[in-house]
Amino acid sequence: MSFKYFINAVEVAKKIMNYHVQKGSKVLDCTVGNGNDTLLLAKLVGKSGKVYGFDIQSIALNITMEKLRKKGLNDRVVLVNDGHEKVDDYINEKLNFVIYNLGYIPRGNKKIKTRADITLESIKKSLMLLKNNGLLLVTCYTGHEGGFEEWNTVKHFFQSLNQKEYNILEFNFINQKNNPPILYCVEKI
Ligand SMILES: C[S@@+](CC[C@H](N)C(=O)[O-])C[C@H]1O[C@@H](n2cnc3c(N)ncnc32)[C@H](O)[C@@H]1O
Repeated sequence: MSFKYFINAVEVAKKIMNYHVQKGSKVLDCTVGNGNDTLLLAKLVGKSGKVYGFDIQSIALNITMEKLRKKGLNDRVVLVNDGHEKVDDYINEKLNFVIYNLGYIPRGNKKIKTRADITLESIKKSLMLLKNNGLLLVTCYTGHEGGFEEWNTVKHFFQSLNQKEYNILEFNFINQKNNPPILYCVEKI
């Protein structure tokens, strides 16, 4: 017997994506990495939708583009090899959905990771790009160097937002050992 609904933060994020992202949606993956979220989003938005994906590692984007091509999903995806703190330089339309999976690529170069100050700058810009009733998801990891500080920065920022403008949920597996990732789900009103 295994768990079905709440396996980990990443799986909860996928469930929310499947529920919220529609054909024709305009969405943004701020941390493409191995492309798992980008691929799912490309499938969900369909031919009429659009996925923007950012990563500072060109190799991650090349691998992801290859995966997208193999599945015939590359036509609706724009991959940008630049920092997600510059989303507003590249995106001129409102978005239905934004996702961040912070930290480093599992089994990749652990030195190339998201940073608290940059993540905060980026989240602020992404919230400006989000449509009313759009969702923004952030998965935070606290176990690596800089991860705890990054999580604290993200959490404190979300706590400071006006509840008349944003609803923010924290998904935290409170009975798990070894620093399980924590997911934030933000709805803009
Ligand atoms: C945990 S991984 C993402 C995993 C990914 N969601 C997947 O499905 O494989 C975090 C990614 O963030 C990227 N990253 C770090 N800083 C960044 C920045 N300023 N802008 C964009 N991407 C960044 C890293 O290169 C890494 O690929």
